[in-house]
Amino acid sequence: MIRRVPTLQETIDCTFRPKPFNTNGGFHRRRQCPPHTMAMTGFALKQEAFVALPQAPTSAPHPRGSGSSFAHQTTPAVGDHVDRAACAAVSAAVAWGARRKSRVARRACQPERRGTEPVTARAAVTDRLVTSVDPSLGPQGTYQVGIDFKNWLQSANEELKVDGLRVDGHLPAWLRGSLVHAGPAKFEFGNDEFVDWVDGQAMLYRLKISEEGCQYQNRWLDTWNHRMHREAGRIAVRETCSRPSLQNFWERFMYLFSPPNNENGNLHISQIANSRCVSMSVGSACLEFDLETMDTFGKVPFDDELVEGGPLIFHAEPHVDKTTGEWVTCAIQLRISPEDMGLKPEYVVFSVEPDCSKEVGAPVKRRLIRRIATEYPSPVHTIGLTEKYIVMIQIPYPLNWDGMMNAEAKWLMNGVYEGNLNDYNTWQPERGTTIRVINRETGEETGIFQADPFFFFHVINSFEEGEELVHLDVVCYNEPPVGFPLRQARSGDVEDWRGGGGEVRRFTMNLRTGECTCSGWPENCFDEPKINPKVDGMRQRFSWGVIDDNGMLRLTKQDHETHEVFKWEGQDVSRELPWQPVFVAEPYSDQEDAGVLMSFVRDQVSGNSSCIVLDAATMTEKARIHFPEGHHIPLHGHGTFIKA
Ligand SMILES: [Fe+2]
Repeated sequence: MIRRVPTLQETIDCTFRPKPFNTNGGFHRRRQCPPHTMAMTGFALKQEAFVALPQAPTSAPHPRGSGSSFAHQTTPAVGDHVDRAACAAVSAAVAWGARRKSRVARRACQPERRGTEPVTARAAVTDRLVTSVDPSLGPQGTYQVGIDFKNWLQSANEELKVDGLRVDGHLPAWLRGSLVHAGPAKFEFGNDEFVDWVDGQAMLYRLKISEEGCQYQNRWLDTWNHRMHREAGRIAVRETCSRPSLQNFWERFMYLFSPPNNENGNLHISQIANSRCVSMSVGSACLEFDLETMDTFGKVPFDDELVEGGPLIFHAEPHVDKTTGEWVTCAIQLRISPEDMGLKPEYVVFSVEPDCSKEVGAPVKRRLIRRIATEYPSPVHTIGLTEKYIVMIQIPYPLNWDGMMNAEAKWLMNGVYEGNLNDYNTWQPERGTTIRVINRETGEETGIFQADPFFFFHVINSFEEGEELVHLDVVCYNEPPVGFPLRQARSGDVEDWRGGGGEVRRFTMNLRTGECTCSGWPENCFDEPKINPKVDGMRQRFSWGVIDDNGMLRLTKQDHETHEVFKWEGQDVSRELPWQPVFVAEPYSDQEDAGVLMSFVRDQVSGNSSCIVLDAATMTEKARIHFPEGHHIPLHGHGTFIKA
């Protein structure tokens, strides 16, 4: 049943308040391109996406791929041409959005400021800044936003394995396992430098907590792409936003027919079949690694009907069912119509059952849940998962074919690729934002709801109430953040960047009547949300993440009932930069906020890093685990905690 409801513009309060910081959005910078060309940081599509190549690219054998089933999987024909998008993480990461001081406010549908009941009256449009940061007050070497991107974005230079880390405070006795992150960590080869953060070559980071103490290890994800760059001493193969440095036109022309290979799992860590660790970007690559040794095994081979349909791009961050272990995500597939040979974009919603093979390198069969044809394929970064439904948000941010073609043509002619993420998607707010409620078992679209346009990276949670209502909590932006200009950030030229923030909104959808209402929580400048996994898919009261706090990131806890915000009070915001928290629930406790919040924290003065362990209930520091002094950990992507 398809239901369509009045737009939210007609049903909720409409006010606008520019946010100083966007935990997820990437910094806004001097407007160098019209609004329609703005792109979020992580999402990208390679130019090759629309170049139908005659044959599937063949990956080089993986050095560690022992079994024939696992040695490098052959890349699907058009599949890898389209590269992954950056995770919002990226987004996020990079996402640290900044808005110009003088930015003109845009009218946008906003939720009620207080309380959870939807309102129908419209409020006046306002224009004011929440935060005003004097750059002269920031620590030396940092920027207006308080984040020292210049140093944070330097490449990692070593792999370490260190036991017996120094621990201040006391770790909970139940906290046993590994906190694993992935992140871009190498941004140049020879004289070549990548265009975007998402092109950085992936590093894995693991903090292992056991009876013996704390161990830190980081290793490069051993990919074909990275080996090609390293062996050539230059950018040798395509990345999402970078092209190889080739000196003459004919070399570049011939390279257009060279099949790309999407191997750079630098954003998400998850587990398939509850055991197989994978690191992935938003593209088709799903790179398996060993949790203990951190050896890279190679691409997970897929053996199902989806392989035949063309490339899967813009993977949403996998959502694992807390009860069944089913691994659920969605992606865009650019199918080629046999009738006119044109591209027919479809959303593909699929899962991996928990009973798939747990053997390293074994082929994986995905379960197709739903195909949704669309005229404007837009990235989906995260999805909601309830007991019965998948909640998928389609933002009005379709792929910008012209922009990508132009970037590729310029590279062909002059060897300079300027196809940053701003060129890859186009903001089309007139389309509105669509929320789909999809039955997990049957694939039926039980409800389709049209909302006023908003942009998002992260769903906080979704849950059912009775047989009719589905709630969705999501961090919304009125428009996409400006893409992340890596070179500019690394040069330190970010004086006029300003932060921007996401707003938590709750959409309540009635599957029977088709009604959709929205309430919200403006002004919290929040993103990178985490909840207690025990309440995933259920009504949650709390979420944790980062907010903008006068130009600096700050770990926070949100109370969704009272709208209170609890900060990590002990944070020295003049130098301590936290990022990407992970919530680890205390076992045997029914208290929702019983657990710890873990986050890698960078000391911006010394460059050292540690892992902070906060009491999630009180937001006070329980322990701090120090990584080796002088060891650089660049801005990284999402992580997860894997229990021992
Ligand atoms: Fe993300």
